[in-house]
Amino acid sequence: MRKKVIAGNWKMNKVRSEAVQFLEDTKGQVPSFNEVESVICAPFPYLSELVQKAEGTPVKIAAQNMHFEENGAFTGEVSPVMLKDIGVTYVVLGHSERREYFAETDETVNKKVHAAFQHGLVPIVCVGETLEQRESNQTNQLVEGQVKKALEGLSEEQVKQTIIAYEPIWAIGTGKTATSEQANEVCTHIRNVVKDVVSADAAEAVRIQYGGSVKPANVEELLAQSDIDGALVGGASLEADSFLKLVEAGK
Ligand code: G3P
Repeated sequence: MRKKVIAGNWKMNKVRSEAVQFLEDTKGQVPSFNEVESVICAPFPYLSELVQKAEGTPVKIAAQNMHFEENGAFTGEVSPVMLKDIGVTYVVLGHSERREYFAETDETVNKKVHAAFQHGLVPIVCVGETLEQRESNQTNQLVEGQVKKALEGLSEEQVKQTIIAYEPIWAIGTGKTATSEQANEVCTHIRNVVKDVVSADAAEAVRIQYGGSVKPANVEELLAQSDIDGALVGGASLEADSFLKLVEAGK
């Protein structure tokens, strides 16, 4: 039985006071880590403070990106060493917004996944197709390629610990959710890919989230699907009440 992972991706939202207030507002109400993994993916400037504030609570703090290098002349970048140093435990890699606006490629995502494991961070690797790709029946092939490349060179144990987030780009921030069947179909395909390229054990263990207009009203149906092990949520994770409903559904 795979434990569900509900991650709120705040993207480039909230000022510091709002970020801190969110943890205050959810305190004591988030289910235990044994029941469900609750993760907040916050902007870089707030990570350190949020890690401290979340200490002793079930909430884990994630970064939304990082560089794969440990240090050096990379102006404007943040390294895995720095994230680990301040107590961050998860990192979102290869989000479609990073692929689209910041030239992230399958190759850089793969390097970042390796760097995450090297520094003890759990990677949440995002994959997903555009509307055009879906309409021309390229979804499975495209997602398969992204998954294979992202996992390339990892050990079986590392693959088991990886979280893959299937986020169809056409469903992100659009209010258009993939139906639970559509979402599950691709998540099943991803699991089969992991089985083919790694092992049946790895496929059984790897957690696959769905992301794209997830909200309290649709989360239960999505999480009830056979191959959906959690959600990566943007808009609906910004309000404490709504986030609490999402994590509750993950129990
Ligand atoms: O990473 C989460 C995401 O891209 C989905 O965003 O706002 O559609 O839930 P949203």
